[in-house]
Amino acid sequence: YSDENQRILEASEWLTKLYHHLLRYTKDGKEGYNYFQDRSIQDETIDVFQLGFAPNTKDFIVEFLEKKGFNKQLLIKAGLVSERDDGTVTDRFQGRVIFPIRNHLGKTVAFGGRAIHDQGPKYLNSPESELFQKGRLLYNFDLAKRHIRKENEVILFEGYMDVIAAYQAGIKNVVATLGTALSESQAKMLRRYVNDVIICYDGDDAGQEASFKAAATLRQAGCKVKVAYLKDGSDPDTFIERHGGEAFQDQILRASDTYMTFLMRYYKKDYNLSLEADKLNYIQKVLKELSMVESSLEREYYLQELSKDFSMSLDVLKEELETIQAKYG
Ligand code: CTP
Ligand code: MN
Ligand code: MN
Ligand code: MN
Ligand code: MN
Repeated sequence: YSDENQRILEASEWLTKLYHHLLRYTKDGKEGYNYFQDRSIQDETIDVFQLGFAPNTKDFIVEFLEKKGFNKQLLIKAGLVSERDDGTVTDRFQGRVIFPIRNHLGKTVAFGGRAIHDQGPKYLNSPESELFQKGRLLYNFDLAKRHIRKENEVILFEGYMDVIAAYQAGIKNVVATLGTALSESQAKMLRRYVNDVIICYDGDDAGQEASFKAAATLRQAGCKVKVAYLKDGSDPDTFIERHGGEAFQDQILRASDTYMTFLMRYYKKDYNLSLEADKLNYIQKVLKELSMVESSLEREYYLQELSKDFSMSLDVLKEELETIQAKYG
């Protein structure tokens, strides 16, 4: 790290400790603490992730960091505090619960602040900087690394809360992309540690769309991908809070789809399968995808699924697949 970045890391460390202390031990942090309690997050988990609370103050944080000897301009540059148009410097996060974002070495390089009342944007993050590039970091990668190695598998979530809920439930080989887009650099980062990835994004449409894209990026990087699906449209953290870690393990992770099964489900949304023409187009699209599957055993298996799904003879589907293979292969 450069001298300047080293100073920024030191300031971030102080700030992590302050936010955490306020949440855990002070009256001012009580509403943040209550928020996590309402979401069933235990003290031990709050400590592991160093969760905190940014008080609803104008410049309490600014003064705290200045007293610690940090230069205002540096703090502004680091995005730890905000400079307004009139030149006054204020706390960046006000009245939000805080998720410190650690890099792969476990150093806090940014903060995520979540609103606890229905006002303002739900999440406010630190701006990107030399130290923090969203697309180059995976949330919780530092703690998850050894568990990923041990399990030979990683579970990829969208958000902080999904990671934290899973971790609390004893599932620790978990990371998040902090949003929905998985970059090539993040995929490569995972690939260096593991082959098998389970994508477990939110059950809503945006989550499914993002699963499709992330799956492609991960396969490009050489990973074997499975996709878990929350049929009720909920988030992993909500499912875990309601049903517990064991149910999540059994009903969601172990039931996750292979890439091909995911595609067969995902492509359906583009078609009205009660229409004959759409049905045929859908089958063509799946067969085209199948023509790229290398294992003949797998091809046979999905052909059977298609055949069952549409009550079509296996022979006809096979013939069609061979035609496609000849055309594209
Ligand atoms: N995110 C963000 N900025 C936003 C919205 C989302 O940085 N404006 C990131 C956060 O890292 C968040 C993740 O994208 O954790 C997933 O977003 P979302 O599904 O909306 O958040 P959850 O983690 O599910 O939040 P919560 O359970 O607290 O509602
Ligand atoms: Mn603590
Ligand atoms: Mn989401
Ligand atoms: Mn959620
Ligand atoms: Mn979510």
